[in-house]
Amino acid sequence: MRIGIPKEPYSSQTLVAGTPDTVTKLIKLGYEVCVEAGAGTKANYFDDQYEAAGAQIVGKEEAWGADIVTCLDTPTEAELALIKPGATLLARMNPFGNKELPKMCADMGITALAMDAVPRLSRAQSLDVRSSMMNVAGYRAVIEAATEYGRLFTGQVTAAGKLPPAKVYVIGVGVAGLAAIGTASSMGAVVSATDVRPEVADQVESLGGTFVEIPVKQQSADGYAKALDEEQQKLTLAVYTEQAAKNDIVITTAAVPGRPAPLLITAEAVSHMKPGSVIVDMGASELGGNCELSRVGEVVHTPNGVSIIGYNDLAGRLPAQASQLYGQNIVNLLKLTTPQKDGCLVLNMDDEVQRGMTVTLDGQIMWPPPQVSVSAAPAQKAEEEALPEKPSKTGTKAIRGLWWKIVLGIIAAVLIVMSPASAASHYIVFMLACVVGFYVITNVTHTLHTPLMSETNAISGIIIVGAILQIGSDNPVIAALSFVAMSIAAINIFGGFRVTQRMLKMFERSSED
Ligand code: NAI
Repeated sequence: MRIGIPKEPYSSQTLVAGTPDTVTKLIKLGYEVCVEAGAGTKANYFDDQYEAAGAQIVGKEEAWGADIVTCLDTPTEAELALIKPGATLLARMNPFGNKELPKMCADMGITALAMDAVPRLSRAQSLDVRSSMMNVAGYRAVIEAATEYGRLFTGQVTAAGKLPPAKVYVIGVGVAGLAAIGTASSMGAVVSATDVRPEVADQVESLGGTFVEIPVKQQSADGYAKALDEEQQKLTLAVYTEQAAKNDIVITTAAVPGRPAPLLITAEAVSHMKPGSVIVDMGASELGGNCELSRVGEVVHTPNGVSIIGYNDLAGRLPAQASQLYGQNIVNLLKLTTPQKDGCLVLNMDDEVQRGMTVTLDGQIMWPPPQVSVSAAPAQKAEEEALPEKPSKTGTKAIRGLWWKIVLGIIAAVLIVMSPASAASHYIVFMLACVVGFYVITNVTHTLHTPLMSETNAISGIIIVGAILQIGSDNPVIAALSFVAMSIAAINIFGGFRVTQRMLKMFERSSED
């Protein structure tokens, strides 16, 4: 089959749906690839590079007339007319919001796979263009904010005085929000974030941010939020207003599928912000945005000195890498749907990933797909809690464990009774050491177990001292035992330090980083 990579019809689009690198990968899957002349120019990929990668450079009609057409967004009517019946279209089509789309694709007799409707499953992440694009956009949002802010992000102590770090507040911890938190943290800012889904608090903290609680908590089965009612909206706005006044930069990424971006920062909240503060409204669109005062595609400067960035092309501001990621998502989808690597697309509607993104199949409407449960919340835990207790295996295990403890207890008691009275104090020390060791080990975080163990292993140096004293003994058994004890203790000590050193090396930055 032939894959067509046309030039994007919208003049504002800087991305291209395939790069020379991804073209090579498509060819390896057995496809022929044709690229419209000049398709990648805005992303700095040129025709000769595509040719060198094995693609044919063709005209507009030929690219749109291929068996499989890959592009960024739903094409305009003029381009749709060039797609042949029976062809497959791979593009972001917003099937959640574009109600006419399924019928339109069905009338054209095509198979339409919405790249922006890939279910949020871990196994589908490699083909999820939303994740790739939002990730790039979240990064770029911080870069735009930093440029507009015009001050250092990281705190500094200089001979001329102290500079405090920038305070960044992110509302909405989806893909874009997480990327923004990670980027701002790595640039040295003090980051906090909020979401109506409290399940994301751990993710915020793992990226170096602080989770700010809000009075609304939603349990989500699909990884998305639901719209808030009036009362909830009022409660959350109060928190956002307070936080906006405290922070230097506010990045809003809140979204509810199929609805315009929810309002998070009102004009009143902006009026309480410090001069020099910056808002990046990632939700800014023609339908409104997360900030009442943002204007799509523009930077608004308010009378109190707040800049509000409403760019809606953040990923497009990093076109080379964004195109590479988009193209790789297409390659990953085709890897999944070309099992024989023979250049033949085979769709499997029993696969929830492929089913979830299929809008039409050979002209038949397939939208909406059945819901897929993908929450990051510990739903399984809740389900487990709801399940009746299983007495069988766990019960038997517990009884077996108890028997072992009783047997070990009896053996210990017999040994103590049979030992000479002088050994009693040693047993007491041993038992106390067991208790102390148990509490120390169980209270130390897992990542520190290795260094802790190597430190405590070094205590077995005392065995080496004892063995050195005994190794010269005339009794060959004592000498041999001393040698064995020395060897084992040495492995224990030096091995422990070696493992710790290797572990610490994993956290060291190389000079190239
Ligand atoms: P997402 O769906 O992964 O994340 C949105 C998050 O907002 C969710 O975690 C949700 O729980 C949260 N949320 C919803 N309502 C909320 C509320 N009232 N308060 C607090 N949190 C709330 O979406 P993703 O992929 O991260 O995209 C975020 C936004 O960025 C979208 O609006 C998207 O259209 C936009 N975007 C903008 C770009 C630009 O160039 N400006 C580029 C890419 C994405």
